[in-house]
Amino acid sequence: MTLSGKQIVLGVTGSIAAYKAVLLLRELTARGAEVTVVMSANAEHFVGALTFRTLSGRPVLSSLFDPQSEEAVEHVALAERADAFVVAPATANLLAKAAHGIADDFLTTLLLATRCPVLMAPAMDGGMWDHAAVQANVETLRERGVTVLEPEAGALASGLSGRGRLPEVPTLVEAVERALTPQRDLAGERVLVTSGPTREPIDPVRYLSNRSSGKMGHAVASAALRRGAEVVLISGPTTLQPPPGAVYVPVQTAEEMREASLQHLASASVVIKAAAVADYRVERPSATKIKSGGKDEGLTLSLVANPDILKELAQRKGGAFLVGFAAETNDVRKHAADKLRAKGVDLLVVNDVSQQGIGFDAEDNQVLLLDRWGGTLELPRMSKLEVAHAILDRVLALRSTPKTRRAQPSH
Ligand code: CTP
Repeated sequence: MTLSGKQIVLGVTGSIAAYKAVLLLRELTARGAEVTVVMSANAEHFVGALTFRTLSGRPVLSSLFDPQSEEAVEHVALAERADAFVVAPATANLLAKAAHGIADDFLTTLLLATRCPVLMAPAMDGGMWDHAAVQANVETLRERGVTVLEPEAGALASGLSGRGRLPEVPTLVEAVERALTPQRDLAGERVLVTSGPTREPIDPVRYLSNRSSGKMGHAVASAALRRGAEVVLISGPTTLQPPPGAVYVPVQTAEEMREASLQHLASASVVIKAAAVADYRVERPSATKIKSGGKDEGLTLSLVANPDILKELAQRKGGAFLVGFAAETNDVRKHAADKLRAKGVDLLVVNDVSQQGIGFDAEDNQVLLLDRWGGTLELPRMSKLEVAHAILDRVLALRSTPKTRRAQPSH
């Protein structure tokens, strides 16, 4: 029994898909898990607490102030006991409360109190799932390390079809099992990641920069942390929170990023340079705000080249494995192959930033991995976190044995 002795909290919220939580509970208990069901008040409109109570063999928790329930006051103890916390189905309302730390019932209070892996399986109408507010909440939760599963596409309760269906029970069970057996294949590794854009000052209020959001670099840092690595994250300005557990080094300019990178290089076993470093900086930034001139008067800025940090790291890296990124818009493979050689990196992650929906500021990415031993691996479009894991998988594979370094056919 794969989940023998595991303590799982199953949160159920008010969606028509709540019936699938009954089937999920049966599967989890059949695998040996001890499951405590926690329902939102609205969930009880869809499935009765008695069903969950009977199948779990335990009281079902709902209200923080239920005088009948001893467990209700024990939310902290239950939060500490849990090995995994699964919310299935998770409504848009639950995602919003969790993202904002609202704790107005047993389920949401427990979510704040727990420190175990949390997995949420959203279910809602397709239009709701696509709403910017829901997507922002999902992003916030993912940044904090919550695993939010993608809902599936298909027929919805509203009669429409779209993306919003709760994944089927086997998919949910597999995700729970994965959450309970985290990969620790980077334990003992020290991973140095650079992320985000750099900002090169023009004057005290203006700067030159680029469209990098830092999502890819931050995803690499999160993935490496989850797999047991110690992570130093050197990042230019972004709106993202650094992943908990990383040593965070915020920087502004390419020169600051260079200094921080060199300082942390000696202790790194893997270096992943996802930052979009500005190639040029203003030669002499003004110490005071540049005043606007007359209407017809232009302004000429004199730019000088920034140091190529990646190249410098390649020369000084010693035994560290060095991964660079390449953003290309045309002749992608040719430019990437040239860049791999010119930069002297072990692995190059190539983005075609001309494509819609991937690359800069997007949630997804689609990359090509070129290595110095002649291998090419073309990955399908996936979330940036999945791309991050795929890059780390490739680093480990290329480092492990010389024979895996042989060229791989490109698909
Ligand atoms: N990079 C760097 N220092 C720079 C410029 C880029 O370390 N001054 C690194 C980036 O972190 C990235 C890689 O080099 O890992 C490639 O970045 P990219 O912008 O694609 O390449 P460039 O070297 O700027 O080449 P070009 O703009 O001519 O394509």
